[in-house]
Amino acid sequence: MIERRFAIVGHRAPSKGKVNLNDLSGSSGRIDVLCRAVNTALFLSHGMRKNTHITLHLMGGPGMGRRIWFDSRSLRGIRVDERSIAGHISKIIQQRAPAIGQWEEFSQGLWHSPGGLLDTLKEWSNEGVEIIHLDVNAPTLWADEAHLPSTNEMKNLSNIELGGEVQLLDGEGNGENETDIEMSVDSSIGFILSDDQLFNQSEINSISEHADKSGSLGPTWIQGHSAIAIIHQLLDLGIKLR
Ligand SMILES: C[S@@+](CC[C@H](N)C(=O)[O-])C[C@H]1O[C@@H](n2cnc3c(N)ncnc32)[C@H](O)[C@@H]1O
Repeated sequence: MIERRFAIVGHRAPSKGKVNLNDLSGSSGRIDVLCRAVNTALFLSHGMRKNTHITLHLMGGPGMGRRIWFDSRSLRGIRVDERSIAGHISKIIQQRAPAIGQWEEFSQGLWHSPGGLLDTLKEWSNEGVEIIHLDVNAPTLWADEAHLPSTNEMKNLSNIELGGEVQLLDGEGNGENETDIEMSVDSSIGFILSDDQLFNQSEINSISEHADKSGSLGPTWIQGHSAIAIIHQLLDLGIKLR
């Protein structure tokens, strides 16, 4: 199984305090963008992908950035709507951040740690993740010889390729059976995205130092959650990447 990871930077999202759940796109520093990214990264129509992680980077202060890691292998109690996801983020940023370099589990499958994109990139590099910077100006993410599968080829795609073992959720966002799903990971691929703003110079430097390659999904900038949806579809369909 290929594990999928996403890292998204929220340049104005607060790292401490409270999220205004009635104004996610305004006074909450575009936290709506991050919530949509979580939704698209983790959820299928009726369940959660079990082969995907997403790490949010809340860089809008005050003080040091905070990272929130949603680990779908053990995540519980998360519902698909933006307000519910934002509610979890809000509870976390009201807590004191753990010590630098530490991840602390806030609730099952939901972790937080101080730091920024460079910390995530270093961790991913140490864990052997192939890191891809998503950039409109790069060569296409897929190989030149890539093709969409035929109906017959699609029938042969395994469940694992189709987003991993899917865990069905009840109305509270909990798995219908509460056992964690263990899958052996053959390799990991991680994608780096920004919110609605450009990466800043220090992020660009970190990306140049750690990313293995850059890939484009098309000639126009689309929203981050749409980019995540396309990546899932390419990988689900077994499209050959460059
Ligand atoms: C709304 S876009 C950000 C646009 C922003 N002006 C920039 O230059 O980064 C959000 C993220 O989605 C990804 N993205 C959007 N469109 C893309 C495309 N056509 N190819 C590759 N990645 C894309 C990029 O990671 C981007 O940082």
